[in-house]
Amino acid sequence: MYQKIAIVTGASSGIGKAFIGLLAGDSGEYFKTPFDEIWAIARREDALNELASSIKGIRIVPVVADLSTDSGIKTVEDKLKAEEPKVGLLINSAGMGIKGPMADKPAKALGDTISINCTALSEMINITVPYMKPEGNIHSKIINIGSSAGFLPQPGFACYAASKSYVISFSRAMSCELKPKGIDVLVVCPGPVATDFQRRATEGKEANFTDWRKNFVVDPVKLAKATLKASIRGKRMMSYPFSQKLLHFASKAFPISWILAFESGAVKE
Ligand SMILES: NC(=O)c1ccc[n+]([C@@H]2O[C@H](COP(=O)([O-])OP(=O)(O)OC[C@H]3O[C@@H](n4cnc5c(N)ncnc54)[C@H](OP(=O)(O)O)[C@@H]3O)[C@@H](O)[C@H]2O)c1
Repeated sequence: MYQKIAIVTGASSGIGKAFIGLLAGDSGEYFKTPFDEIWAIARREDALNELASSIKGIRIVPVVADLSTDSGIKTVEDKLKAEEPKVGLLINSAGMGIKGPMADKPAKALGDTISINCTALSEMINITVPYMKPEGNIHSKIINIGSSAGFLPQPGFACYAASKSYVISFSRAMSCELKPKGIDVLVVCPGPVATDFQRRATEGKEANFTDWRKNFVVDPVKLAKATLKASIRGKRMMSYPFSQKLLHFASKAFPISWILAFESGAVKE
């Protein structure tokens, strides 16, 4: 018999972990039929094991994989082939970014950013879709965590912002390609979220957002709740919170030369 599962990448911390907590406690608020298990994917085995033992009410299956490598993707693909589950939900939350001028960073940091944010996200969708078997009007769901950074080029965070533009564009195209198969695709574009992201992006220099962004930081659980609700409603894109909707509007309303001039000034400060 098919196992009905959810797959969450980036499950060892932050937003991905928040999704797993909500799905484990879901008594029909988001999904009418509960999942039999959740595959929790990340590189840190200890963090995944701790998550699996702390969650009650649903089986959490840790899948240790570096998704920025071919072998990491193959680990997930082989598990899908072996178990042939029915995938009701895929959440692509794994991601990274390194802040600072591009020329000061090692080439590998750029490659790793693109591999996990763009390539892995695309390949995860590609290998999972064959196992999504929607029933009637119960659609399968894909949720991609983009970023409001993807609305604009960002000097000082260029590779990350460009990678998230890819996520937005790819997700929107997928929402059209996959709709006839009964699969809804949502891309979520948050502003700053209170996770480990900033510490990692600043290579340990800042544990939290310290500049003007600190006024807009949101809680990962609140973001995850709003995201699941938007996904259930069949939305294709969500900017969160309202401040990021304004940023999205501004990114379309003002000429890019003005935006770049403003951002270049901000980077010099
Ligand atoms: N926090 C923010 O301000 C913010 C804002 C907008 C968008 N986002 C996006 O939200 C998503 C989640 O980030 P977060 O805020 O939750 O940060 P986080 O706490 O640093 O989580 C990142 C997750 O991605 C996983 N990951 C990173 N590289 C991986 C790889 N090569 N293979 C497998 N898993 C990998 C990490 O697990 P391991 O290290 O264990 O592998 C971790 O679980 C990212 O896509 C990020 O770009 C974050």
